[in-house]
Order: sequence, then C-alpha cells, then structure tokens
Amino acid sequence: MKKTLVAMLAVVAFAGTAFAADVIEMKKGVKFNHKAHQELLKDCKKCHEKGAGKIEGFGKDWSHKNCKGCHVDMKKGPTSCKECHK
Ligand code: HEC
Ligand code: HEC
Ligand code: HEC
Repeated sequence: MKKTLVAMLAVVAFAGTAFAADVIEMKKGVKFNHKAHQELLKDCKKCHEKGAGKIEGFGKDWSHKNCKGCHVDMKKGPTSCKECHK
C-alpha cells in the first residue's frame, strides 16, 4: 500500500514538471534553457526567491542583473549582448 502511494506521488510530481517548458523563449531572441540551469544550479531559490513559477518583476532589468550577474560571478555562461540575444 505504501509503495503504491509513493509510486503515485512520483508520477504526479513528474507530470507537474512536464508542464514547464525545458527551454523558455524570451524577448529579443534569448533562449533560456531552464532545465539545464535547474540541473546545473540545483537550488531553485537562486532565481525563484518566492517559490517556483512566474518571477515578480521579470524582464530586462531583472535579467541583466541576475542572469548576466551570475555568469560574471561564476565566470561561466554568456556575458555579451550577442551571446544571449541571438
Ligand atoms: C537560473 C535561474 C532559474 C533557476 C535556477 C530556476 N528557474 Fe524556474 N524560471 C526561471 C525564469 C527566468 C522563468 C520565467 C519567469 C517569468 O516568465 O516570470 C522561470 C519559470 C519557472 C516556472 C513557470 C513555468 C514556466 O516554465 O514558464 C516554474 C514552475 C519554474 N520556473 C520552476 C522552477 C523550479 C522548480 C526550479 C528548481 C528546480 C527552478 N525553476 C529553477 C529561472 C530559473
Ligand atoms: C545563479 C547562476 C545563473 C543564473 C542566475 C543564470 N545562469 Fe545562465 N548559466 C550559468 C552557468 C554556470 C552557465 C554555464 C554552463 C556551462 O558552461 O556548463 C550558464 C549558461 C548559460 C547559457 C549558455 C548555455 C545554454 O544553456 O544555452 C545561456 C544562454 C544562459 N546561461 C542564459 C541565462 C539567462 C537568460 C538567465 C536568466 C533568465 C540565466 N542564464 C541565469 C549560471 C546562471
Ligand atoms: C545573460 C544574458 C543577457 C545578456 C548578456 C544581455 N541580455 Fe539583454 N536581456 C536578456 C533577457 C533574459 C532579457 C529579458 C527578456 C524578456 O523579458 O523576455 C533581456 C532584455 C533586453 C532588452 C529589452 C527587450 C524588450 O523588448 O523588452 C534589451 C533592449 C536588451 N536586453 C539589450 C541588451 C544589450 C544591448 C546587451 C549588451 C549590453 C544585453 N541585452 C545583454 C538577457 C541578456
């Protein structure tokens, strides 16, 4: 009985994540590989301070501060306009 419940919960959890797109298409040709970032960074809070879902105030300023900021800090990932805006 317990095993069935665990298996059922696993299926529900998987179905939940399947709704989110792996790559999110953003403005000005930015393709954000959400899945790769999730796997790479592990911690959702790096970007979702208030929990998973839409990010309050997301847009140009947020992105240039947080996306680019992290790439600069980690010395990994694109930091020039053309690398993000294809
Ligand atoms: C590197 C930054 C980053 C990380 C780490 C991250 N996300 Fe996201 N996530 C985003 C961005 C950016 C959006 C789009 C936000 C918007 O449009 O408001 C987003 C959107 C979402 C959405 C909305 C559905 C969708 O696909 O548009 C969900 C749900 C979500 N993230 C869950 C998670 C979970 C769960 C984790 C941790 C396993 C996670 N995210 C890790 C940046 C990130
Ligand atoms: C907390 C750190 C962090 C944040 C926040 C973050 N990234 Fe990254 N990103 C990385 C790292 C580290 C890499 C390098 C991965 C590698 O080289 O293996 C990377 C790689 C990339 C790449 C090149 C590889 C690919 O996935 O196509 C793009 C494009 C990118 N990031 C876009 C974004 C955008 C857009 C955002 C904001 C919505 C963002 N990143 C936020 C850490 C971050
Ligand atoms: C790390 C990736 C990254 C880098 C580097 C970057 N941007 Fe962006 N930029 C983004 C993201 C993500 C958005 C927000 C997209 C959205 O709101 O859907 C954005 C938004 C914008 C917008 C607003 C687009 C609109 O229609 O609202 C402009 C203009 C812009 N960037 C120009 C630039 C210029 C110029 C540079 C170089 C100085 C640059 N960006 C560097 C990721 C980046």
